[in-house]
Amino acid sequence: MSIQSNSRIRAAITAVGHYVPEKILSNADLEKMVDTTDTWIQTRTGIRERRILEQGATSDLGTKALEMVLKNRGIDPEEIEVIIVASVTPDMFFPSTACIIQDKIGAKKAWGFDLSAACSGFIYALVVGTQFIETGAYKKVAVIGADKMSAITDYTDRNTCILFGDAGAAVLIEPSDDPTIGILDHVLYADGSGGCYLYMKGGGSLYPATYETVENKMHYLYQDGKSVFKVAVIGMADVSEEIMKRNNLTANDVDYLVPHQANLRIIDACRERMGLDASKVMVNIDRFGNTTAATIPLCLSEWWHCGKLKRGNTLVLSSFGAGYTWGAALVRWAINNPNKY
Ligand SMILES: CC(C)(COP(=O)(O)OP(=O)(O)OC[C@H]1O[C@@H](n2cnc3c(N)ncnc32)[C@H](O)[C@@H]1OP(=O)(O)O)[C@@H](O)C(=O)NCCC(=O)NCCS
Repeated sequence: MSIQSNSRIRAAITAVGHYVPEKILSNADLEKMVDTTDTWIQTRTGIRERRILEQGATSDLGTKALEMVLKNRGIDPEEIEVIIVASVTPDMFFPSTACIIQDKIGAKKAWGFDLSAACSGFIYALVVGTQFIETGAYKKVAVIGADKMSAITDYTDRNTCILFGDAGAAVLIEPSDDPTIGILDHVLYADGSGGCYLYMKGGGSLYPATYETVENKMHYLYQDGKSVFKVAVIGMADVSEEIMKRNNLTANDVDYLVPHQANLRIIDACRERMGLDASKVMVNIDRFGNTTAATIPLCLSEWWHCGKLKRGNTLVLSSFGAGYTWGAALVRWAINNPNKY
């Protein structure tokens, strides 16, 4: 798609919210569970701690995040028209987590669906939600990224258990009051040949749950970290550079890179390719680890709530994840100041 057509309705993020569970799983805790060290985890990933949801499911993370969105926007749940939930840890295969959240929050007039694109889930869902606004079909679309990664993490596997955490975050998309503000452009990619490097095999129609699938740990995520790292580091930088180039943006024009938080080294490589100073990158991987679909909206919500994200700021959202899926979105921030749109 191309950017900037003044005749078209522009979609903008008009509210943000997030929720992280209280329980902290620190690197010191993990040292007692698997053969690892705080130093190894911090130097190889940038993670110090992550959050764990002890009671409940992904819908609870998403519902709490959406409650904050509604409070910040000052609207009732009945005003939401569509709910899109990006997640690889839905409460169950069906009903969709979107339907569960619709019921929990009381969004009686909304329809909705789940979207599976792993760590790129939020950007994919944001782009899908944007289409509903740009066509004029809807005026209030909720996009949620939520994952209870602890539900599919093997806490005896040091290769993966150090990486992931639980969180939910959400945005509301509405028609923009200014065509130069909002979700301006996107580039999305997928390469299914990368599926063998990052997956959860069990529980689907290919390997329905059996004693064997449980014994063989097929209901946990598997990652060939080294292979994923090599493509992620290139893919995320490529797509971020591509969206800057096609919009004639220099590093000076970008206020923030909002990267998926999988590994601090991947984020740094992306930042360097874009020519950005470290102060222009949203990083919270140290406190939350990789929360899959939640990382990007979690950054947006935190930065906005502490007043560092202002209307008119130019953002590049960028991600890489299982599939493979990757992509970037160019956003000019619409929300004025905390608690007042
Ligand atoms: C997972 C990841 C952090 C591993 O870092 P890495 O530098 O690639 O580490 P390697 O896998 O090469 O392992 C290096 C060594 O550390 C060991 N190691 C792995 N995990 C360890 C841990 N938690 N603690 C201590 N040592 C560990 C390995 O066994 C290996 O030892 P060896 O050399 O004796 O075989 C990194 O590959 C990564 O971030 N991958 C991509 C993640 C991503 O982007 N995913 C996509 C979105 S979800």
